[in-house]
Amino acid sequence: EVYRASTYAPVNIAVVKYWGKRDTTLNLPTNSSLSVTLSQDDLRTHTTASCSPTFTADSLTLNGNPQDITTPRTQACLRELRALRHALETSNPSLPKLSTMSLRLTSANNFPTAAGLASSAAGFAALVRAIADLYALPTPPEDLSRIARQGSGSACRSLFGGYVAWNTGTSPDGSDSLAHLIAPASHWPDMRALLLITNPSQKAISSTAGMQQTVATSPLFPHRAAEIVPPRMRAMEKAILSRDFDSFATLTMKESNNFHACCADTHPPIFYMNDTSRACIRVCEALNVAAGRAVCAYTFDAGPNCVVYYLQADEQVVAGSFKGLVGEGKEGWEGKGVEARAAPQ
Ligand code: DP6
Repeated sequence: EVYRASTYAPVNIAVVKYWGKRDTTLNLPTNSSLSVTLSQDDLRTHTTASCSPTFTADSLTLNGNPQDITTPRTQACLRELRALRHALETSNPSLPKLSTMSLRLTSANNFPTAAGLASSAAGFAALVRAIADLYALPTPPEDLSRIARQGSGSACRSLFGGYVAWNTGTSPDGSDSLAHLIAPASHWPDMRALLLITNPSQKAISSTAGMQQTVATSPLFPHRAAEIVPPRMRAMEKAILSRDFDSFATLTMKESNNFHACCADTHPPIFYMNDTSRACIRVCEALNVAAGRAVCAYTFDAGPNCVVYYLQADEQVVAGSFKGLVGEGKEGWEGKGVEARAAPQ
């Protein structure tokens, strides 16, 4: 007999960035972060979790390719989920003993993996939710976010839709370092995201390695964590709650700039953006200056691809302005220079 559950998890793009860990084993961040969850019609991981007494070992595939399931991060997630299932089975002995069976996990992304498009976020969120569903765990999303965080920090924010904050927490065991919903997507229905794929290939330095180099060598970084991010978290939450796009956009762009300044301040320096990325910034700036208000906001993660936030009313001017920089249509994910539009989910 095979037990099975399938789920989707969406990509999230941070507008206040997580960069730096205070605990590398538990994935505890140096600062809080805040993200917008993209629609899972557009960018998502789909994961099926199954288990059976006939399976002989845990296994994981991504887009059909076998992955290492023995990494400490994946093992931490599996251990926590099995413990929760074990507790259920102990209190209800009639339940099948799924916690003792090997797991088979199959995942598929509909976007380029590790191109700085938060693939690990959707990946670990989908993995955790699929197993939680398979195990019929009554665990609320906040608690699942604590588990997904141990797979990849940003994954804790993909257990929710809409606008999500991840508070650093203060406890050394990480029990209070979890994500919570600021507002559902329906709170700001005309918010849109445009993804400009300036280079879909694998990134040079992973987030995990890059952020640790920054923590170890950047003199700008402690200032960012202590002085810049905390007031920015409060201002961003306020901008979202009051649907103030001007403030949202300004904070988002300043935050991306400060994050990439810390990357440049790392020794040796880390450069995630390319010439096309910088051209995207200039187009955004020109649009905002010409309109005399914030029309769009750019942000870049640990890669050269640009995410542009804008409001539905400005769709024509925003989409038209980036046409010359990148091509059009989601089909070309594997090619260079594609764009895709997404609504928050
Ligand atoms: C720049 O979550 O990929 O996208 O916890 O080591 O897996 P690990 O790092 P990861 O880092 C994401 C960094 C970022 C900013 C963000 O998403 O907040």
